[in-house]
Amino acid sequence: MIAPPSIPAAAAAVAPGAPLGERMRSARTPEPLAMVIFGATGDLTRRKLVPALYRLARERLLPDSFAVVGIARDELSADEFRERMRAAVEEFDEAPEPAEWERFAERLSYLSGEFARPECFLALSRRLGELDRERGTAGNRLYYLAVPPGIVDDIAAHLGEAGLVCDPESPCWSRVIVEKPFGRDLASARALNEVLLRSFDERQVYRIDHYLGKETVQNLLVFRFANVIWEPVWNRNYIDNVQITVSETVGVELRAGYYERSGALRDMVQSHLLQLLMVVAMEPPASYDAESIRSEKVKVLRGVRPVSPGDAVRGQYAAGVVAGAAVSGYREERGVAPDSRTDTFAALRLCVENWRWAGVPFYLRTGKRLPEKATEITVQFRPAPHPILDTVQGDCPAPNQLVLRIQPQEGISLFFEAKVPGLAGPLHPVSMDFDYQTAFTGISPEAYERLLLDAMLGDPTLFARRDEAEAAWALVDPVLEAWESGGAPEPYPAGSWGPPGAERLLAAAGREWRNA
Ligand code: BG6
Repeated sequence: MIAPPSIPAAAAAVAPGAPLGERMRSARTPEPLAMVIFGATGDLTRRKLVPALYRLARERLLPDSFAVVGIARDELSADEFRERMRAAVEEFDEAPEPAEWERFAERLSYLSGEFARPECFLALSRRLGELDRERGTAGNRLYYLAVPPGIVDDIAAHLGEAGLVCDPESPCWSRVIVEKPFGRDLASARALNEVLLRSFDERQVYRIDHYLGKETVQNLLVFRFANVIWEPVWNRNYIDNVQITVSETVGVELRAGYYERSGALRDMVQSHLLQLLMVVAMEPPASYDAESIRSEKVKVLRGVRPVSPGDAVRGQYAAGVVAGAAVSGYREERGVAPDSRTDTFAALRLCVENWRWAGVPFYLRTGKRLPEKATEITVQFRPAPHPILDTVQGDCPAPNQLVLRIQPQEGISLFFEAKVPGLAGPLHPVSMDFDYQTAFTGISPEAYERLLLDAMLGDPTLFARRDEAEAAWALVDPVLEAWESGGAPEPYPAGSWGPPGAERLLAAAGREWRNA
């Protein structure tokens, strides 16, 4: 993921004087493969997977010998499937250029089948054999399980039984990408891992979290480990607290069926927010290979003090106003129980108990129907130790703040104190800003584009390892249990920053959230 110091082996075939773009492209082109999408008529395939594959094809990042087999229960012809996918690309990317689309579409095919039945996998095996012969896909397979967790077991078991998973030591490869939610608690995540690992080796399992595919999240590693100025201050001596906020303006939309059984803690904190926490708090890895990075990340979760119910706040949105429009409360949404206790907001105070972070709280919060769509990490530094300016001017310097904007308006701002010009100029916070759009001209790849390409290339750095997924559940499990056994979430009006309990979580220590 982070460019290694030498040019990767695949690039060696390209003339040394070739332009960098050409070398990069060559270095990043996967071997021939067939990709199988289970759940091919679902929302994820339409919104994310096929548009991302199309963009990769347009950017010439897919191998010439590449084919996609979509599988779902619906009876569709290959042409109908292709037409649906063309419409999806038009809706979620841009209207495809006809010749470009034709080149891509001829690689798409469709199989209708029941994932619980062995016949479906026999048909798949036949189709994959044909693709190997006709398209040169060389026995390499990437399975994408874009299906609800309850079906993953069946698919994994059948793939194994039908002989559709290569031995990891054999010349061809098989990999499986598993979508979130990866289980609904520690016990179910462990069970899911066990089922997967009966058919696959851990090296073949790619647990996806699309936050890790975001350019700004990858840049956090570069920001921390490619610059010397942060490391000396990146610890308890200089940092007072860290805040991670993922706020959304949308409500539950049409996903009540899923969300009612999930809630904000499972849907967002266990996955995306804990991933951000790991990247911010991890130790520098000994090298930038996947295992070193993932091992350092998981150590962060293992170091978190067990979360007590007093360190957690849950909320549920009531009717309110978002972006000037009146919106209904969660319990009035379609498909939601009128007495639902599902959390649409969750906030946690976490303590990472190690030499670097002892005593520095990490505050995490996420919610639906908040005033802004924003993902931000705020590193709040301690106040200057000797407030000389305070004594002289009666002006208390504000502590420094580093704000890492993951989305939107991707960038980084460092806030520091300056003297307002003038004979009696008071202090005023100003900022130094890095803005992606001004600094770089190219378009950033979308998260799924990056992650699909990495899985095709066999780079698991940006995917969760088994221990990581389980450690994340182990962290939130006690809170889930406490919430399930009683009480109800605190209501908050849609368009506000969450329930009063979230403010109290920080106010108790004289702190407050930074709101975007
Ligand atoms: C998904 C959650 O994983 O992430 C959704 O299931 C949420 O509920 C989404 O809306 C947010 O992703 P992003 O990339 O828009 O921040």
